[in-house]
Amino acid sequence: MEMNFKGRDIINGYDFTNQELCHIMDTAMIYEKRVKSGEVIKDLAGMLVATLFFEPSTRTRLSFNSAIQRVGASTIDLGSASASSQSKGETWQDTIRTVDGYVDAIVMRHPVAGSAIEAAEIAEHPLINGGDGARQHPTQALLDIYTIRKEKGHIGGQTITFLGDLKYGRTVHSLGYFMQQFGNKMIFASPEELKMPAEITAELRAKGADITETTDVKAALAESDLVYVTRVQRERFPDEESYNRCKGSYIVNNDLLKYAKKGITIMHPLPRVDEIATEVDSYEGAAYFRQAHNGMYLRMALLGLVTGRI
Ligand code: NCD
Repeated sequence: MEMNFKGRDIINGYDFTNQELCHIMDTAMIYEKRVKSGEVIKDLAGMLVATLFFEPSTRTRLSFNSAIQRVGASTIDLGSASASSQSKGETWQDTIRTVDGYVDAIVMRHPVAGSAIEAAEIAEHPLINGGDGARQHPTQALLDIYTIRKEKGHIGGQTITFLGDLKYGRTVHSLGYFMQQFGNKMIFASPEELKMPAEITAELRAKGADITETTDVKAALAESDLVYVTRVQRERFPDEESYNRCKGSYIVNNDLLKYAKKGITIMHPLPRVDEIATEVDSYEGAAYFRQAHNGMYLRMALLGLVTGRI
């Protein structure tokens, strides 16, 4: 099936068909092989991509910057907002409008939910959402399913527990749609205060998702093939007090894993704070650093596709 991604914005986790998701993953797999074979890739030679991070980032920013250079493009980076005209009071919308005139594609992360949609309307070039507030983080969810396919050999027909801050954690807001589309059973395990937003759960159920909501982490892990852990998103809490009430409310450690289904895979978008103990890192199913590495190949694929160079 011919698929055309050229010029497309990457904004939400619910914007893709299963065929498109498979095509993106297959493209990432080819890039992974090409990089590992030592090929110097020039697919995007002559192209320029901007990375505009109005919010802190390590993996998304650095894996995009690596991906941009690995596909043969060059990158311009906004740097920290305090070093740019943001500090003079320029609106981020004006920054987008300006940078759009310099480059062939834009990657943006911004603290305001919905900013990616607005930015895509402003920019004529493809806009890739690297996370818009607590709303969506589609490129993370794409690398997550790429990781699930590599770790498990397939994506569908499994039980996956989302554990942690499901309210503010944007990665699960995107990943939930992919999991539903591939026919997985989902368990949402979180403290009462950090439940998955009701409108997302309702929308997923309306699409036919099998979802259980629980606070019983042990029971959830006992029947899960995979657990996707998220950090309590401190920066999105209205005040320190409500954060303090929720922090440390779940910790995946060797003790807890005794209750988990044999062979469980553990994923996390990172950064972790204390929700996965470092003792778990040596566990075979601990996939979170492999997951972070996969991000570069997946982002190479997205860049190749939206620029129409592959
Ligand atoms: C996530 C994010 O920014 O939403 N990080 C990432 O992109 N890998 C998760 C988080 O910050 O907790």
